[in-house]
Amino acid sequence: MEKILVIGAGGQLGTELTSALGELFSNENVIASDISKQNPALADFSFQQLDVMDAKALAEVVESNQITQIYHLAAILSAKGEANPQQAWHLNMTSLLNVLELARVKQLRKVYWPSSIAVFGPSTPADNTLQDTVMDPNTIYGISKQAGERWCAYYHTKYGVDVRSLRYPGLIGYKSLPGGGTTDYAVEIFHKVLKKEDFTCFLSENTALPMMYMPDAIKATLNLMQAPEEKISVRSSYNVAGFSFTPKELVASIQKFHPDLKVDYAPDFRQQIADSWPNSINDDQAKKDWNWQPDFTLDTMTQDILENLPDYM
Ligand code: SER
Repeated sequence: MEKILVIGAGGQLGTELTSALGELFSNENVIASDISKQNPALADFSFQQLDVMDAKALAEVVESNQITQIYHLAAILSAKGEANPQQAWHLNMTSLLNVLELARVKQLRKVYWPSSIAVFGPSTPADNTLQDTVMDPNTIYGISKQAGERWCAYYHTKYGVDVRSLRYPGLIGYKSLPGGGTTDYAVEIFHKVLKKEDFTCFLSENTALPMMYMPDAIKATLNLMQAPEEKISVRSSYNVAGFSFTPKELVASIQKFHPDLKVDYAPDFRQQIADSWPNSINDDQAKKDWNWQPDFTLDTMTQDILENLPDYM
């Protein structure tokens, strides 16, 4: 029987992944935790307010709930991390090391930790970016994710910890808000259009980035975590792709339903971050190892969000 702890459960990915894990393992076997107080979206779960930087408190939660798997989602994202690089590094690294070390000592069955397209940088070939390629991240978030990938691979090789990871593209969902990423514009624009407000995009109109609709991100995560151990050939982090689009292409997709949407472009410091990331991702290894296949296209995502977001606003 599995007992799962989700760290960072109140965040954009956490709220949705916690629900999905509840459906899979039943809610009483999933403990939600976050440094912030309980997100109302997690009302059906038992909740622990927890600072993952506190290794002792983390160990106590794991022990008292007989946790067998940890999903560690807490992190400071790319744009927010640039405001305080030292703090972003400290949080992103120490929290991962606390989780990996606990997994080793307590012999947890599995650990999940997300990486990101932010591990790539300006010298990485930007189109159809391969699993194994040049990596020269230039945000602290990206540097911490790249180092984190190496730590995951190290704990697997050296100690046999079954830690698995995905390099998520920008994640777009309607049930929860992102916090501090370079891809957040692609969520904000849907809120603006439904409030009948104009949108100012902080990236330029032709900036292509890899993106993924949240149901596909949840599916990829659960597929990876349920795959037999011998199928997992990548122990750093897997490339996964949904689709790629520019702000202009997203606007065109939304305008099929809301022709009145008005957008202007005022690129800020996040433009430079976006320019250093790939335009599109090659995820052949994930397809080969655990049959990864996304379900959504840009237009089917747009339609789904426009239909469902009003219930969450
Ligand atoms: N969506 C994240 C960000 O923009 C990328 O991992 O920071």
